[in-house]
Amino acid sequence: QRSPNRRIAVIGTGYVGLTTGACLCSLGHHVTCCDADRDKLAELRRGEVRIREPGLGELVRAGISAGRLGFTRSSVSAVRDADAVFLCLPTPMAADGGADLAAVAEVVREVRGHLPANGLLVTKSTVPVGTAARLAELVGRGDVAVVSNPEFLREGRAVQDFLAPDRIVVGAAADAAAQRVAELYAGVDAPVVRTDPATAEVVKYAANSFLATKLSYVNDLAELCERVGADVTGITTCLGHDHRIANSFLRPGPGWGGSCLPKDTAALLHTAEAVGVDLPLVRAAVETNRRQQRRAVDKVVAACGGRVAGVRLGLLGLAFKAGTDDLRDSPAVAVAGELARQGAELVAFDPALRGDERGLPAEVAVVDNPYQAVKGARAVVVLTEWPEFTDLDWSQVLDLAESPVVVDTRNAVDVAVLRRAGAVVHGVGRG
Ligand code: UGA
Repeated sequence: QRSPNRRIAVIGTGYVGLTTGACLCSLGHHVTCCDADRDKLAELRRGEVRIREPGLGELVRAGISAGRLGFTRSSVSAVRDADAVFLCLPTPMAADGGADLAAVAEVVREVRGHLPANGLLVTKSTVPVGTAARLAELVGRGDVAVVSNPEFLREGRAVQDFLAPDRIVVGAAADAAAQRVAELYAGVDAPVVRTDPATAEVVKYAANSFLATKLSYVNDLAELCERVGADVTGITTCLGHDHRIANSFLRPGPGWGGSCLPKDTAALLHTAEAVGVDLPLVRAAVETNRRQQRRAVDKVVAACGGRVAGVRLGLLGLAFKAGTDDLRDSPAVAVAGELARQGAELVAFDPALRGDERGLPAEVAVVDNPYQAVKGARAVVVLTEWPEFTDLDWSQVLDLAESPVVVDTRNAVDVAVLRRAGAVVHGVGRG
C-alpha cells in the first residue's frame, strides 16, 4: 500500500526523533525535524548524524537529497502546516522515580496556538499514562486530537525496528484520528493495534517491564545454576524452544541497563504506587537487577583472591549492550564504579569508545586497544557482549595479563576458545 505523502513535524532529534523523522520521510512523507541545539541542526543539515545507529545516516542524507527532510530550530514554523506533529522529547526520571514531562509540556505550550485546524499531536517518546489527556487539556482545542503512538525501538536497531516492527500501537479517543495516524505507516508491514490513549501509554511501560522481568528471572536462574552445577545456557536454549516463552531476552549478564529499562520500570512502579497498586514482580525484577550487579562485582573480587584494592583489572566493554556507544545506566559502568570504589586500578577497552568518555568514574582509564587494556591485569573482565571479543587473540591476551583469569559476566566469549588459550574462566550461570 502506498503512503499518502503527508507533511509531518517531529519535535526532538534524539535517537527516537531522528529515527522517526528519517523513517517517515523514507515512507514518502515531507518531514521537518525540530531541535533547540543549533550545532546539532547544522550537522544534520549537512547529513551528519552523531548517534551510532545503523542505516540512519543514509536515510537522513537520502531525505535531504530528495528535498523531503528539513531541519529547523523553530517549533512554531515546523508545526504550522503539519498534518501530524510527533513529540519525541526526553522524559527523564524525576527524583521520585516518575517521568519528568517538563520538556513535553513546554513545547506544547509553545505550539498549541499554531497547530493547523484538525491537527494531530502524536506522543512518540515514552510518557506516563494520562499524558495524552493532560496534553489535550493543555492544547485546549477541540479540533486537535492527541494520539499516543509509542515507540519500541532498540538502540542499535532503531531503523529496522521502525520500518519492520512487531506491531504499531495507536491509542486515540476517536476513530478518525487513529485512522489518520495509522495511514502514516502505510507501506510498513505490521499489525496495527488500535487502543484508547491510556492503554497505549501503559503498553510501552508494560513491554519494557516484562522484558526486564524476563531478564531478572534468567539472572536469578543463573545464580541457582552456579550453586547446583547446572548450565544456564542449556536451560535458556530449552526454554527458548517453547514458543510461549520465545527465544530472546534470555541471555544472563551483569544486569540490564540503558536509558529505557531502568527508567521505565521505575516509572511504572511510581505510577502504580500513586494509585495504590502494588506490582511485586516488577519490584523484584528491579531488586534482582541491583543484586545481579553486586554478584558480578563479588565474582571479580573472588577471582582476584578476595580483595581488589591496588589490583589492576582489564575491562572489556563499557557500553550498556553491544552495538551502541551509550553509557547511560550501563551495568558495566556500575560494576566498574564499585570495583574502583574498592580500590581496583581499571583500564578499559570498548570498541565504540575512544579516550575521555563522559559518565565514567574518573578511576577508569579508557584505551583504544584491547591488548593494552589487559596488560598486567590480575583478571580480564568482560562486561559487554561485543562479538569481536571472541575474535581476540586470547593466547596473546593471557600472555599480556598478569594471570590467566577471565571473568566473563555475559558468557560473551566462546568458553572453548578461552579454555584452549589456557584461561581460568568464571562465566555466569555455569556450575
Ligand atoms: C529497550 C527495548 O528493548 C525497546 O523495545 C524499547 O523501545 C527501548 O528500550 C525504549 O524504551 O526506547 P534498549 O534500551 O535499546 O531497548 O535495550 P535492550 O536491547 O532492550 O537491552 C536492555 C538491557 O538488557 C541491556 O543492558 C542488555 O545488555 C540487556 N540484555 C538484553 C541482557 O542482559 N540479556 C538479553 O538477553 C537481552
